[in-house]
Amino acid sequence: MESRSPKAGRRAAARAPRRETPPPPGTPLRIGLIGQKFMGKAHSNAWSQAGRFFDLPRAVELTTIAARDGASLGAFARRFGWKQHTADWRELARDPEIDLVDVGTPNDVHREQALAMLEAGKHVACEKPLAGTLDDARAMRDAARKAGKRARTFVWFNYRRAPAVALAWQLLRENRLGKLVHVRAHYLQGWGGAGTPMSWRFQKKLAGSGAHGDLNAHIVDLARFLTGEEVTTIHGAHSRTFVKRRAVAGTSRTAASDVDDCVSFLASFRGGATAVFEATRLAPGHFNDNHIEVNGEHGSLRFSFEDMNLLEYYDGREPRRLQGWKRIQCTFGDAHPYAAHWWPEGHVLGYEHGFVNQAADIVRALSGAKPEVPLPDFEDAYETQRVLEAALVSAANRTAIPLSQIP
Ligand SMILES: NC(=O)c1ccc[n+]([C@@H]2O[C@H](COP(=O)([O-])OP(=O)(O)OC[C@H]3O[C@@H](n4cnc5c(N)ncnc54)[C@H](O)[C@@H]3O)[C@@H](O)[C@H]2O)c1
Repeated sequence: MESRSPKAGRRAAARAPRRETPPPPGTPLRIGLIGQKFMGKAHSNAWSQAGRFFDLPRAVELTTIAARDGASLGAFARRFGWKQHTADWRELARDPEIDLVDVGTPNDVHREQALAMLEAGKHVACEKPLAGTLDDARAMRDAARKAGKRARTFVWFNYRRAPAVALAWQLLRENRLGKLVHVRAHYLQGWGGAGTPMSWRFQKKLAGSGAHGDLNAHIVDLARFLTGEEVTTIHGAHSRTFVKRRAVAGTSRTAASDVDDCVSFLASFRGGATAVFEATRLAPGHFNDNHIEVNGEHGSLRFSFEDMNLLEYYDGREPRRLQGWKRIQCTFGDAHPYAAHWWPEGHVLGYEHGFVNQAADIVRALSGAKPEVPLPDFEDAYETQRVLEAALVSAANRTAIPLSQIP
């Protein structure tokens, strides 16, 4: 359990074959992960649990974790079962023993890390938003196109894989709502007040944006995923920074907090539905309130992450005396997506299960099997990034922006 030296990494590089064909069936999928904090923990858990709960076509091996926090990395690696750890993330690119690199770092480094891994022939699973800027996101999409089938890409839009969201996706594919009219989505948190000290999340050069890239990214992805439609126009948007300076922890200094605290916008989908999106980190009492509702000509669906096991469904075609919202608890192994891999009915799932479900789907996809619901790749996440960019341009220019204006 030791960090390998860069020299060892270079020796490994000399041996590295460029992987052009998939490995034979039964070969474990060897993972490298960059980042060891919030997402580092969620992803380490996901990779280690996937093979325990899902009958996967390939075993998963937690090969090497990389992060900057050298002092705590060894203990983290031991706790989560990583074979090796290193403070130099480039070692993952040089290591022929790694098949997939998982990028769980702040948004400003997604591009550099993802490109290095794709260039080295590794599959990449990157955290959302795809990048802090549209230029970075475009470079990542282009690199993924260039890599083609040799190196696949995935993005951790984990909420797609809450069983209730996956069930909503199935019901929409069955056309239960008919023609779609409205999407109403908000993602509200309350932790970002003036008392919260400076971190990368409040610095534009590191995060790209604030609540927008952090939270609107998820609900724009969910809206595109559920409806299966693309946004065509942003009709108007509003962005505001309420907290302009924040304390720098451990010092008496403050620093500029130069990202949005909230962004709201109105949009249209290609099929004609209208959409409302709102993200903020300044809504006390909302902890992780990721909420989406879809209204169609025959009924409605809604999901709220703080009750993540429930999907609410209103069927306007039921006899009038029975009409009302159904609260479907999505834990039936024989009926609900992902549920068969977990617990008996009524034994509910939590935040971490979305990540485990996604890790399992990535392993399936890399083995030629079908994921339970579609996985977002860089191409897909780039479309979400275009919507986010259009909303920012709309807010800055106080005007409507057709998506065709965003390259
Ligand atoms: N899918 C989700 O629900 C979700 C939730 C939270 C965060 N995220 C995303 O995950 C990413 C990471 O967020 P987080 O909350 O885990 O951040 P964090 O601050 O908790 O952890 C960041 C980690 O990245 C490492 N790191 C930073 N810069 C690095 C560099 N240049 N080289 C190597 N390692 C570096 C740090 O050492 C740390 O371990 C962001 O893109 C964020 O938007 C997604």
